[in-house]
Amino acid sequence: MPRYAYVNGQYLPHRDAMVHVEDRGFQFADGVYEVVTVQDGRLVDEEGHLNRLNRSLGELQMASPMASRTALELVMRTLIRRNGVVNGIIYLQVTRGVAPRDFRYPSRTKPTLVMTTRHMDLNPVARLERGVAVITMPDIRWKRRDIKSVALLPQAMGKQMAAEAGAFEGWMVDDDGTITEGCSSNAWIVTDDNVLVTREPTTRILNGITRQSVLRLAADEGIGFEERPFSVAEARAAKEAFLTSATTYVTPVTQIDGETIGDGLPGRLARRLRQAYWQYAAGDHADVQAAKGP
Ligand code: PDD
Repeated sequence: MPRYAYVNGQYLPHRDAMVHVEDRGFQFADGVYEVVTVQDGRLVDEEGHLNRLNRSLGELQMASPMASRTALELVMRTLIRRNGVVNGIIYLQVTRGVAPRDFRYPSRTKPTLVMTTRHMDLNPVARLERGVAVITMPDIRWKRRDIKSVALLPQAMGKQMAAEAGAFEGWMVDDDGTITEGCSSNAWIVTDDNVLVTREPTTRILNGITRQSVLRLAADEGIGFEERPFSVAEARAAKEAFLTSATTYVTPVTQIDGETIGDGLPGRLARRLRQAYWQYAAGDHADVQAAKGP
């Protein structure tokens, strides 16, 4: 159990950390969040995650919870240090704040800001390198999936369905038969010509920060890619498949709906990009932003 949680300006013992019953996050899922991985004390892809947090807030006309990004970064580092997190995650949630229940946005409400951390004993890349199984399922979410909203019930249902089927992740399928993304990750395949395919970032998916970094790394490594939708049939017949997220990095997918992908082993490009992202996360890459400790 982590020692502290941050709630609206205070570092509280984790068990005492609470928000009000009339918080709009609780009543309307009127909030957004980010998950940032901490690897060897570094915040991986921090800038991208904080940029996306600002974007989500802007799309919902929600005020920033802190006066400056520097102040937010300072709180993140303080919580990580106080909780002794070397490898793990930091979770940030911002809601529109506390107000009497009314659908319309309240005019003068201070946003709620909550942060928690979690330790991860094994690094996620090592744990998942042998590849995972996914199942497909209908995408029953709303149409603004580009906003990282805390309204995650469809994904919770999907993850539960996947777990009950013995799979690691659910890949959600739009009405037209194309895969949108995973319940908490982005979906990728590799064609016979060794071209990466992942869906273009529109309102139909969350534009993963790991996804964006992997595209940059692929370009650096001279690996070709296409951003376009792909069908379940194309995914099942693909040479390779993999998924990306802050908590799983690049994870090979070796089975879709019980069918083996390629030769059933993690694909060559998935392994190469997994390695490249791992190095990037570790800071052995020109693009990486080293963690700035207070
Ligand atoms: N989920 N798509 C969805 C629907 C997600 O929830 C996530 C992340 C991603 C990958 O985004 P990123 O690379 O920025 O983590 C794609 C986080 C990890 C979560 O909810 O725990």
